[in-house]
Amino acid sequence: METRIDHITDGIYRIATWTPDYHITFNQFLIADERPTLIHTGEYGTYDAIRKAIAEVMDPAQLVYIALLHWEGDENGGMDRFMADAPGAELVGSALSIQLNARGFGMIDRVRGFQDGETLNLGRHTLRFLETPHVHHWDSMMVVEEKTKSLFPADLFLQPGDQPPVVTENLGNQMCAVYRHVGIFAHEEPVRQVVDRIAGLDLDWVHAMHGGTLTKDALPHYVSALRTQEFAYRGMLLGREVATPAPQ
Ligand SMILES: [Fe+2]
Ligand SMILES: [Fe+2]
Repeated sequence: METRIDHITDGIYRIATWTPDYHITFNQFLIADERPTLIHTGEYGTYDAIRKAIAEVMDPAQLVYIALLHWEGDENGGMDRFMADAPGAELVGSALSIQLNARGFGMIDRVRGFQDGETLNLGRHTLRFLETPHVHHWDSMMVVEEKTKSLFPADLFLQPGDQPPVVTENLGNQMCAVYRHVGIFAHEEPVRQVVDRIAGLDLDWVHAMHGGTLTKDALPHYVSALRTQEFAYRGMLLGREVATPAPQ
């Protein structure tokens, strides 16, 4: 597995690790600013590689915010290690995730939860939080960065394969096929409500957690795929068929 870091736009970097076992990349994003921010930490075991990639741009001990978009291994499995390394860093998540998960896992200090519409100033960049419950997990949120008109959508808009930092191709069919295969969304409906909201945001960049960053021109293909194709759980978890009881 190889971890690379690439500048995408205006101080936003993609850190990507190609993971052949899952046939996707696992990405984190660094926003280099007065208050440097890491979005997604990667898993506990990938900490060293991700830390090394960040160190090409800045000292990881200077991170001020570590943001998780839902509570899951690849989202925030490395948070303890990054927080220990950066004593001034605060863990940022949705109000629900911080109230329930962070506190429940014993993280009481240096944590902050955000509700829909609240903002966080990083210096030149500003994060605005969108609560997106049940888009994968019930504590899910997404983040808009206002200066670059960027969206950090976590697992929405993923593309399989070892994608370059910026993707212009229409991989909407492949995206929906992955969702059916791995079973990360319980139902289409809450996802489509969020997709409609996103389509109205006038975004220039969508920084997918798996795959590359989508451009403004590429995004409509993915929006259209999610509006027209099935992609919710149909009895498959990570490609394995799950026994389902017969309907009564
Ligand atoms: Fe996830
Ligand atoms: Fe993910």
